[in-house]
Amino acid sequence: MHEIIEELDRRRSEARLGGGEHRIAAQHAKGKLTARERIELLLDENSFEEWDMFVTHRCTDFGMADTKMAGDGVVTGWGTINGRQVYVFSQDFTVFGGSLSETHAKKICKVMDMAMRNGAPVIGLNDSGGARIQEGVASLGGYADVFQMNTLASGVVPQISMIMGPCAGGAVYSPAMTDFIFMVRDTSYMFVTGPDVVKTVTNEVVTAEELGGARTHTTKSSVADGAFDNDVEAITSLRRFFDFLPLNNREKPPVRPFFDSVDRLDYSLDTLIPDNPNKPYDMTELIVKLADEGDFFELQADFAKNIVTGFIRIEGSTVGVVANQPMVLAGCLDIQSSRKAARFVRFCDCFNIPILTLVDVPGFLPGTSQEFGGVIKHGAKLLFAYGEATVPKVTLITRKAYGGAYDVMASKHLRGDVNYAWPTAEIAVMGAKGAVEILYRSELADKEKIAARTREYESRFANPFVAAEKGFIDDVITPHSTRKRLARAFASLRNKDLQNPWKKHDNIPL
Ligand code: HXC
Repeated sequence: MHEIIEELDRRRSEARLGGGEHRIAAQHAKGKLTARERIELLLDENSFEEWDMFVTHRCTDFGMADTKMAGDGVVTGWGTINGRQVYVFSQDFTVFGGSLSETHAKKICKVMDMAMRNGAPVIGLNDSGGARIQEGVASLGGYADVFQMNTLASGVVPQISMIMGPCAGGAVYSPAMTDFIFMVRDTSYMFVTGPDVVKTVTNEVVTAEELGGARTHTTKSSVADGAFDNDVEAITSLRRFFDFLPLNNREKPPVRPFFDSVDRLDYSLDTLIPDNPNKPYDMTELIVKLADEGDFFELQADFAKNIVTGFIRIEGSTVGVVANQPMVLAGCLDIQSSRKAARFVRFCDCFNIPILTLVDVPGFLPGTSQEFGGVIKHGAKLLFAYGEATVPKVTLITRKAYGGAYDVMASKHLRGDVNYAWPTAEIAVMGAKGAVEILYRSELADKEKIAARTREYESRFANPFVAAEKGFIDDVITPHSTRKRLARAFASLRNKDLQNPWKKHDNIPL
């Protein structure tokens, strides 16, 4: 018996070394942790249950029969983060560059299958050169199996990808099918084809960083939801992020202890809106002041900054926030902001996370680039996402809510449950200047007349009361009492039950 246990220990130690000490040293030299070190940091101490440690590949081509490494380039299993269950896979770049073989894929599919059965999220720590070249179609098939599992798991359990190394080919498409992608700056890349292929095919000369680094994917492509400076920051932030999420689609969001009075009044909010309606202010200031302990986890912070998305907690419970940002493009909706917010709203709706919408929007951004780019279709995504969402929806109009954008931003008409406005709200088809220019075109030469018309329009519409008279706004609230009023609104909606008509699935304009 003693020898058998020794043999087990020997095999375990060998497996833990992955591709060997020199490759581990090379990984460290790049400022990266190993697959196992990452898992250790991610999960609660001693909570990791590893599976399939002894799995090896089955390839015999290209001399592969002689190069088998236990685990086959991915460490898989489950553990806990602050006591809550999570399934993980962590690709081991020291084993064939973390490339995906048939068996590597099977290991990933196994944890995803178990995650779905047991209702716990999946976190992938990705560090992979893509399909294992030596295995040919077997590895392509393996990727397709993973993609299929990603699809089935979507909307059942949250799936989160952390990109922690060069990820090419299939290694980017699986993360792309998950709910959130985060990257590590300077050491992680994502591209379908690398710089060499790009040069051959299109003659463009581009570095890996320019083509698929964290900056590119958080500012230009919007593929990534956030980026961190190094592995340690990335993983500790991931733990913080995980705490906001429910474990599956049948659970309500987690409720955590909080140390911030629900009745907290904030008088600084009474002066947040500038006297001049064309002057911007920072909407994130409001979000932070409403959140328990000011804790706001922003997503896609560097992309489509005219809309802000992320998670806060109110009374300890997760709330997804969507907010127009008057500091950027005056808070207009456009193609990118509509896409960004629509995906976020849909995630919240999948996982029972109530949505708080903060509105200050002068409308959709006009122009040929928007129209040619399909703002009709992309704007419709947000409209559709709000329209189909059945989670509690609480909306606050702080200032402008003009035109179609008023409708879109979780208005009463899209089944907003509680719709509030500050006294500074202006709810109208358009701003006074534009409206008067259209309605009184024949009087445009007469400046005084036009000024009078403008004042008349403003006094009629530059307030929340017309909408409140119609019941489209449930109440006009004071800015300083907003946290308390929102907390009560969300509390009143805890047992909300609303079902959409049966369908196979909807057909959101993609
Ligand atoms: C097998 C691979 C591999 C792969 C890397 N390695 N990628 N082995 N299959 N796909 C091995 C290398 O041989 C090397 O082995 C070790 O991993 C480290 O690789 P290096 O090249 O030395 O590291 P680095 O310089 O950091 O470059 C990393 C890299 C590069 C950018 C990922 O290796 C690379 O470009 N790999 C190929 C990427 C690719 O084209 N993949 C296929 C995509 S197609 P040793 O023994 O020396 O340590 C695909 C199809 C699916 O994925 C599509 C579905 C839609």
